Amino acid sequence: MSRPEDTLPPDLFYNDAESRKYTTSSRIQNVQVEMTNRALSLLHLQTPSLILDIGCGSGLSGEILSSVAPSSGGPHIWTGMDISASMLEIALQRDVEGDLLLADIGQGVPFRAGTFDAAISISAVQWLCNAESSDTSPQGRLARFFGGLYASLKRGGRAVCQFYPKNESQRSMVSAAAIRAGFGAGILEDGGGTKGAKVYLVLSVGGGLLRGLWRGWRGWMLRRGVGEACKGRGGRRLGGKGGSSGF
Ligand SMILES: C[S@@+](CC[C@H](N)C(=O)[O-])C[C@H]1O[C@@H](n2cnc3c(N)ncnc32)[C@H](O)[C@@H]1O
Repeated sequence: MSRPEDTLPPDLFYNDAESRKYTTSSRIQNVQVEMTNRALSLLHLQTPSLILDIGCGSGLSGEILSSVAPSSGGPHIWTGMDISASMLEIALQRDVEGDLLLADIGQGVPFRAGTFDAAISISAVQWLCNAESSDTSPQGRLARFFGGLYASLKRGGRAVCQFYPKNESQRSMVSAAAIRAGFGAGILEDGGGTKGAKVYLVLSVGGGLLRGLWRGWRGWMLRRGVGEACKGRGGRRLGGKGGSSGF
């Protein structure tokens, strides 16, 4: 089956009909909720925070942020950015809590420096790997996105981007762009080697995140410096089907 991002630009792919179909599918709702909860757990937020939801769509990911209980450090306040007017229209109709901005993340992240405590992006960043015209390149769009995201986060801020790389080269291109923008970065993969594998790019401004995360993740360790982690003893990389792995 072809990947949506190989068929049309996102603002055309997510038209009125596709956006409605996406939002009302219970299968999609369940998967997006699960991945958003995973991203939130990787952010380790202890108190109500201001979060940017990148590629927020119709608000399936954002509404999880508003619903975090005070006992779990919420509720969080969020702002969503998306390139699809149809997706944002559905978010408005669904009366989501977040503020919404129609914008292309490949052009940057247009907020004042240091605005957000954290950011999440669920199933959006792979769209940047497709150049939409002859004067834009995936590398240029990724650089503008990660540069803008880095600036918009507070020092010590964190971001988790779940995305669907088409192949190893896309996965490396995305992580390299984040590191080049200044982030401390690591990749975590759930269900590696299975059809349902989920890749999370975990980012920090100022380097505090990775130290904090690895303290919280028993059995995880940094390997070969920034951006590399593996599970197991003595730096051995475990690629077991169905488990979590990172690099
Ligand atoms: C699969 S949907 C995910 C939506 C939401 N995060 C969720 O979990 O339901 C991917 C979203 O990314 C948005 N997107 C893709 N490329 C984008 C870009 N360049 N700028 C802003 N949003 C983009 C799409 O419009 C779409 O709403």
